[in-house]
Amino acid sequence: KTVIKVGLLGLGTVGTGTAEVLFDTAGRHPLLQEIEIYRIGVRSLDKVRDINLPQDVLTTDLESIVVAPEIDIIVEVLGGLEPARSLILKAIDCGKHVVTANKAVISRYGDEIFTAANAAGVYVMLEAAVGGGIPVIQPLKQALSVNRIQAVTGIVNGTTNYILTRMQTEGSDFNEVLADAQKLGYAEADPSADVDGLDAADKIAILASLAFGGRIKLPEVYCEGIRSVSQADIAYADKLGFVIKLLAIAQRRQPTAALSVRVHPTLVARSHPLASINGVYNAILIAGEPLGQVMFYGPGAGAGATASAVVSDVMNVAAVLKAKSNQVQTQSNPLLACSHQDYC
Ligand code: HSE
Repeated sequence: KTVIKVGLLGLGTVGTGTAEVLFDTAGRHPLLQEIEIYRIGVRSLDKVRDINLPQDVLTTDLESIVVAPEIDIIVEVLGGLEPARSLILKAIDCGKHVVTANKAVISRYGDEIFTAANAAGVYVMLEAAVGGGIPVIQPLKQALSVNRIQAVTGIVNGTTNYILTRMQTEGSDFNEVLADAQKLGYAEADPSADVDGLDAADKIAILASLAFGGRIKLPEVYCEGIRSVSQADIAYADKLGFVIKLLAIAQRRQPTAALSVRVHPTLVARSHPLASINGVYNAILIAGEPLGQVMFYGPGAGAGATASAVVSDVMNVAAVLKAKSNQVQTQSNPLLACSHQDYC
């Protein structure tokens, strides 16, 4: 039996959810039983935690995890730009595969990170960076990649969708609902990243890069959040048959036209499929030729949902490592291959 060792960086909401899945593998995919959390990097050893962990698994020395020769896969769920970016680059430099949920790092430093990963021959996996538990990265890399994508239109921030939904359905006050979203563990550490549209901008930059090829940089994304949406706006929209949603859009109107990538509050007709996506749920509509349109829908934030995406990435990398250690001929793993070689 192969044991694939994981170094987990971060034990917040997503890190705890990830550890819970990896420590409780009964009834899940059998390969998970061959994956071991070897070390977990945390900021403080004294914090009281809701999870029982084996002795000595925790350390505050995050760099020691990244360089440990025993470790095969680094899972980065720290959030924030630093030290996450440096630790990811260091891990790649040490020949480790990386699984990250860090949309902010990927949208800003994806270029640097994927260039380094391609040179080192390691995988950087990011299913959890967009849409929480919704599988959307892998489908874009694989099942949808034969299409000429025309548009990706999504509700990709659970916190703002939760706020707008409650403002709409209960007439609740913006700040009161934001405080609830923070308590539920949906909001970013600094919730302005949610309400000002920055988190959605990170995510649409990543989706646009995968859907249209190339590496879309954050300054190319027009970004407007929901702070200026008032109860009056919601009431007028309602009278006219619309709801207000924070949409993230990447669209090419004609094959030769420039790509437009943007985030802004949008009037969505009540009959549109995105109009009924409520609460912390996310949905991503992908339109392409010859496909037509598909919609991915599910929990876009939260410990369990995001852990599902993180662990699926870990498992896909583990499958490759196991095949290699069993000397199975794998030219490339179809699960990991990517249509746009410059962004994977
Ligand atoms: N703060 C994010 C959201 C978390 O509300 O969608 C998931 O990326």
